[in-house]
Amino acid sequence: TNTVYTIPVVVHVIHNGDAYGTGENITDEQVLSQIQVLNQDFRRMLNTPGYNTNAVGADTEIEFCLAQTDPEGNETTGIHRVNLGTASWGETAIETTMKPQTQWNPDLYFNIWVCRFGGDLTDVLGYAQFPDNSTLGGIDTTGGLAETDGVVIGYQYFGSQDIYPDGTYDSQFFNGRTSTHEIGHCFGLRHIWGDSFSCTVNATDSLKDYCPDTPAASTATSGCPTGKNSCPNSPGNDMIENYMDYTDDGCMNIFTQDQKERMLIVLENSPRRSSLR
Ligand code: ARG
Ligand code: CA
Ligand code: ZN
Repeated sequence: TNTVYTIPVVVHVIHNGDAYGTGENITDEQVLSQIQVLNQDFRRMLNTPGYNTNAVGADTEIEFCLAQTDPEGNETTGIHRVNLGTASWGETAIETTMKPQTQWNPDLYFNIWVCRFGGDLTDVLGYAQFPDNSTLGGIDTTGGLAETDGVVIGYQYFGSQDIYPDGTYDSQFFNGRTSTHEIGHCFGLRHIWGDSFSCTVNATDSLKDYCPDTPAASTATSGCPTGKNSCPNSPGNDMIENYMDYTDDGCMNIFTQDQKERMLIVLENSPRRSSLR
């Protein structure tokens, strides 16, 4: 089949009274640059070859568009700005206060929150909630409550400096790949090193990534190294250009075919995923 799924997105820009375009109250253009990056990455529109010569990036046939109708049925830009009176956010406050007060129905919208991180989230780029696996044999992700479903991204990691240079960006992670990575988690992907920090490849090992076409890896990667091979007894260098590693934004350019298939199984079967397409 040849179905392209389009996911309706709401971006909640959470601030504490900052003027439009200052602090975490980022501009509409910075938000739009992020949507553009998601479409480039998930559709492989940049046609980049990959640093790893064996790696072939997949067109996942998943697209994103800002919602055009809000939960009350009114026209919207899909960008929801909310002054919650809080300068910065740790995880408990986000989960118990921010999300419940601002979320749009997660059966109908993919929720992205953008805010300033603090407390236990200082220096975190973003985080995601895995899909509910109750209807998915063999897809080992734990999932979470409907009321907290979605991704949360630090404002300086949201959007692309290359597309919209006038935004507010981190000096290292400025190409919007944090959102690509976190949405990968939301659609069922694990890190390419499987979070097990070992080279053992076992299809039933819940700590692996369930994607045989990502070469074995035992550690996360930072920066953009050449020739990294954390599992020398398995074929292939570490696929450091995979969106599900921890490399610099500019270094990332690949979802594999198996990652695509895993995401499509989630999108076609999982609660609050299948209702979005
Ligand atoms: N969950 C990871 C973190 O918060 C995100 C890594 C994103 N990587 C990137 N190159 N943008 O640290
Ligand atoms: Ca502020
Ligand atoms: Zn991650």
